[in-house]
Amino acid sequence: MNTPLNAAARQFRLREYPVKAVNSNTWQMTSDAPQEPLAGQLLVRNRWLSVDPGMRGWITPKRSYMPPVQPGEVMRAFGVAEVVQSNAEGFKVGDVITGFTGVQTLGLVDAQMVRKLDLRYASEQQYLSGLGMTGYTAYFGLLDVGKPQAGQTVVVSAAAGAVGSIVCQIAKIKGCRVVGIAGGEEKTQYLKNTLGLDAVIDYKAGPIASALNAAAPQGIDVYFDNVGGDILDAVLMQINRHARIVVCGGISQYLDIEKVRGPANYLQLIAQSGTMQGFTMRDYMSRVPEAFMALAGWNAKGEVKFRDHVLQGIESFPQAFDMLFSGANQGKLLIQLPSENA
Ligand SMILES: NC(=O)c1ccc[n+]([C@@H]2O[C@H](COP(=O)([O-])OP(=O)(O)OC[C@H]3O[C@@H](n4cnc5c(N)ncnc54)[C@H](OP(=O)(O)O)[C@@H]3O)[C@@H](O)[C@H]2O)c1
Repeated sequence: MNTPLNAAARQFRLREYPVKAVNSNTWQMTSDAPQEPLAGQLLVRNRWLSVDPGMRGWITPKRSYMPPVQPGEVMRAFGVAEVVQSNAEGFKVGDVITGFTGVQTLGLVDAQMVRKLDLRYASEQQYLSGLGMTGYTAYFGLLDVGKPQAGQTVVVSAAAGAVGSIVCQIAKIKGCRVVGIAGGEEKTQYLKNTLGLDAVIDYKAGPIASALNAAAPQGIDVYFDNVGGDILDAVLMQINRHARIVVCGGISQYLDIEKVRGPANYLQLIAQSGTMQGFTMRDYMSRVPEAFMALAGWNAKGEVKFRDHVLQGIESFPQAFDMLFSGANQGKLLIQLPSENA
């Protein structure tokens, strides 16, 4: 292909697997022109990329829910993109799709692996945020795995983040007492003042166990865990009988993912007949329309707010990735790719 599009094609590839935190040897920026799409393929131009903590697992050569990205490959990322050349039935130039479009301006995707978006119902940005996988994860993780009942106490970690902030709001809608745990003044104020949580804990400001005790005096019925580590252990010591722990993520363990520390206090699950269950969206793909309708309805009524943190341009990818681990993101972390980048 020889169009002006190729002039600025850029990709972030995995150079080598990081041992702990990503570093200057992890990524390599390249500017390879894309190939012509083969039968069943689309050439797409990314418009939005989702930057997710789970990416750390994808660059670890260890068994997971997806195979690891191989060194030399374009980094995997979920995105929203526009079709610029189609060699697949049912897709035409100008269609907007979502799927694993990769950390690149332009690239080939297998048409069977992407889904066409209808922009009458949500914006491109929303489809990667509150009305996309982030929102669906919050919805199914809380309601299907956590099974909260009105009046029960729900504790959420990384509560001001993409998934956590939606979990908190759904739990409020369901009539629960909601306790959010987050790092720093800005995030705890957001949870208290904007989202109206019943109690908030700044886990960076002091010991977590006593703060939990004060914030959840009736004990904890549901814990939506995004972080693992010390916070999970502290929660385990304060669960009620038949408590449900939703294992959504364990970001405190991701930077040393070869040596993940399990919960020392898991025997409390025996003492309290509690359950601890992991999940991914793989379990719920057939029920996406249900989550979409519910989230869109709550959002339209102002009952669930989505907060996005948008960076500009493909070059911001390494910085964006680091933000998730320093806590610098305020909401769903997205990269917008202006059309002139393509
Ligand atoms: N199971 C699934 O299908 C699924 C799907 C999506 C996401 N997830 C998981 O859900 C979690 C949240 O993901 P997200 O996309 O919503 O990201 P996010 O919450 O928007 O961003 C990550 C946040 O984690 C917090 N954090 C980072 N390091 C931490 C540490 N050592 N201890 C405690 N908190 C820490 C930071 O917030 P503070 O400033 O508050 O520290 C940071 O802003 C992640 O664990 C992710 O892997 C799971």
